[in-house]
Amino acid sequence: MTIADAKYDVGGVVYDRPFKIRRMNHFGISVDDTGEAVKFYRDVLGFVVSDTLDTAKHDPGPWLDGVPDTNIYFTRHNSDHHTFVIMPRPWADHAEKPPREDITINQITWQAGSLREVVEARKWLDSLGQKIDRYGRDPGSNWHTYFPDPTGHCNELEYGIEQVGWDGLSKPEAMWPWAQGHPDLPYKAEVTEIADAVADGVDITSGYRWEDDLPKSYDVGGVLLARPFKPVRIGPASLFVEDFPAAEEFYTRRLGLTISEEVEVLGHRVIFLRANTEHHSLTLLPLELRSKLGVREDSTLLSFGVQVGSYAQLRAAKAFLEEKGFSFIDLPQELYTGIDYALHVVSPDGNVIQLYYYMEQVGWDGRTRPVDQRRRVEPGVWPENIESQSDTYGGETFWGPLG
Ligand SMILES: [Fe+2]
Repeated sequence: MTIADAKYDVGGVVYDRPFKIRRMNHFGISVDDTGEAVKFYRDVLGFVVSDTLDTAKHDPGPWLDGVPDTNIYFTRHNSDHHTFVIMPRPWADHAEKPPREDITINQITWQAGSLREVVEARKWLDSLGQKIDRYGRDPGSNWHTYFPDPTGHCNELEYGIEQVGWDGLSKPEAMWPWAQGHPDLPYKAEVTEIADAVADGVDITSGYRWEDDLPKSYDVGGVLLARPFKPVRIGPASLFVEDFPAAEEFYTRRLGLTISEEVEVLGHRVIFLRANTEHHSLTLLPLELRSKLGVREDSTLLSFGVQVGSYAQLRAAKAFLEEKGFSFIDLPQELYTGIDYALHVVSPDGNVIQLYYYMEQVGWDGRTRPVDQRRRVEPGVWPENIESQSDTYGGETFWGPLG
């Protein structure tokens, strides 16, 4: 088979673009006080800090005047160096000014399958007139290309994010692979970079390691943790977008995400998009819906999803968060189509985190579960246990110990 015009070879397979997104890899929010915000995501939700980056050291300037904590916090729920990034908003806005005051998301990051895909994607996007913000490599070791969607939300394609192992050590700062620009391909492997660092006398075990002193008294699947649940996967991001058709075009035709399903909420079309077998990693909502739903008006982020390991964990999370005094918002069930039980907890920084344990999986034929075959969930009713379904605990799974 030969590749027709405007078709691309992705690892020997033909696609409409020179890359194939495999999953959402990480997500970033910008907040006024990162030091305060991280307490919720780290101590309450259980994300682990893999590194901090002090913007006062790396990019000092008046944009940091009055900023209570100048650190960027890279946090992770699995072995990826970061899956959730918390940035000081004045610094993030100075680095890349969003076109709207209410954009508080600094990155929506998608994992491609190879370094070549990330490099070729940048060239292809550029050829289409797509604005490219920057490309290169940062702490966390991933090669990247950053570019905005037409509604001002910063997207990133990445390959090669650093993996943090059993010892919890990230790469030492001496090995942070800062790069502006992409390399000529092929490029050396990480294992070669590590050998080079050792040869240069770098102590490769001198990186950052987070260790908390929280009491660990909750039985999570037979393991003692500091909270009765464990984040096992991230996403979906639910975004309000001003130009809905342009956003839909961008995420489908440009990034290659697939629309799993669409629903109507209060007279507005809402679409759910997936990268892999998950029902959705991204929900797009028209901006007009924001005030109708009565949610916060100062952000285009409706919610960010964090999947926990089981239904029992989700149920326990509800009691745990209620006991700690956190508040929840109620959203129409249609807004989390493909998920059955969900909690929408409001973080102290104002963001809404969508906790859930199940996401419908979409197979080779692209069909979602017929509505009448979905689990019926009565809002506010949490049975002690529930029947399994064909795709319960399906999809991306968590590797390794829970804590
Ligand atoms: Fe990133």
